[in-house]
Amino acid sequence: MAVIVLAAGHGTRMQSEVPKVLHQVAGRPMIRHVLDTVETVSPSRIVVVIGPDMEDVESLCRAYTIVVQEERLGTAHAVLEAREALKDFEGNILVIFGDTPLLTADTILLMRQALDEDKKNALVVLGFEPESPKGYGRIRCKQDGTIASIVEEQEASSEDLKITLCNSGAMIFSSEVMFKELGKVGNENVKGEYYLTDLISLAHDRGAKVGLVVGLPDELRGVNSRVDLAGAEAVMQRRLRTRAMVAGVTLIDPTTTWLSMDTIFGRDVTVGPNVFLGKSVEVGDRVEIKSFSHLEGVKLENDVAVGPFARLRPGTVIGSGAKVGNFVEIKAAQIGKATKVSHLTYIGDSNVGNHVNVGAGTITCNYDGFAKHLTEIGDGAFIGSNSALVAPVSVGENAIIGAGSVVTDDVEEDELSVTRAEQKHLKGGAKRWKGRRSTDKF
Ligand code: UD1
Ligand code: CA
Repeated sequence: MAVIVLAAGHGTRMQSEVPKVLHQVAGRPMIRHVLDTVETVSPSRIVVVIGPDMEDVESLCRAYTIVVQEERLGTAHAVLEAREALKDFEGNILVIFGDTPLLTADTILLMRQALDEDKKNALVVLGFEPESPKGYGRIRCKQDGTIASIVEEQEASSEDLKITLCNSGAMIFSSEVMFKELGKVGNENVKGEYYLTDLISLAHDRGAKVGLVVGLPDELRGVNSRVDLAGAEAVMQRRLRTRAMVAGVTLIDPTTTWLSMDTIFGRDVTVGPNVFLGKSVEVGDRVEIKSFSHLEGVKLENDVAVGPFARLRPGTVIGSGAKVGNFVEIKAAQIGKATKVSHLTYIGDSNVGNHVNVGAGTITCNYDGFAKHLTEIGDGAFIGSNSALVAPVSVGENAIIGAGSVVTDDVEEDELSVTRAEQKHLKGGAKRWKGRRSTDKF
């Protein structure tokens, strides 16, 4: 089987500068979803049809044959553009759309099976019954339930508009059909486009059969607008949450957990309500991620506790048994084993050792207005509350920083360093102050 993925449309209805297929679902571009699914059925060829000036799409598809459709003249025209790339190919050709990101491998296999099952089938169409058929081509059926034709919404009669069975856009046919019939498709229709769906009437004309596979509505929704994109996201999130729970993750309130395609979970992980896991998050065993935490590009080793209200940014590794508490932001930092960063702290561009205690309000001043600098904290060190560590700076093993210090010079191991101003004691000072302001109430 060869697969042609159509992705040349810019996607006007997205109202975007970005080509439609690059818009993301669960942190992955739609075209990548489609290609990942296609890869799992191991086709012998994959051809992607893209539009001109789509360098970003092109760079995502480098592993495949890329064909540029200079003018967007319709789905049949787009497939024809791939003909040259497949001229020596014999077998089944599956056409799918880059804007249908939820399609599964099982459905692709069902289509292939349906085509192979009956030698009289010229092609097989993938239909579905969406919640709302609006915008989709409608599948007209004959008395016997087989497909008569597909009519695009713009050309549909009021009778057609009552049809609930819709075209998903995916179609499979033999290379013979591709080479003999595709060139016959015309463009005499409202949009003046070459419709791939016209292959159906061409098949009927020569007495061939057209098969139908009916797929699941959630899987076959096409994404044309941001509203559709949000709908696809919701479906994907349901899938990812289910997958996580089946694999042994407790999601306390699944509907408020946001996951990415590449999220990796260990065993016995618990995720609280309203947690966002962006791209590249890897979670070890027995980790707890409490409510309202936002993680991206992060590795949590075993037995880590995070949140509530933690923000962990790319390049962060939290060592096993470590604790990151509320209102803590960490970026590009290694946090050692059993280290505690419990409250109100920013750690950026840092190496923090094992068994370190970082007090509330500690800030690594990693940026001097020109460049980012490194902060290093050795094993067993204790950073008093409200300290500012002005990078580049290092704090040695088992050192103590007194609360409220502004640390600009390196601190050796086992040292105690304090930079705060000395405390003064004015005997009776409070009384005098109150006396001066006797009309005010304390
Ligand atoms: C298409 C189908 C419609 C179906 C719906 C399912 C046709 C004529 N219409 O309509 O029956 O119900 O999908 O989602 O097939 N593309 C190109 N080159 C082109 C035109 C389109 O590559 O010249 C690509 C687009 O990038 C997109 C796909 O083909 O990935 C479908 O095009 P789109 O304009 O989204 O078609 P729909 O109006 O959604
Ligand atoms: Ca579409």
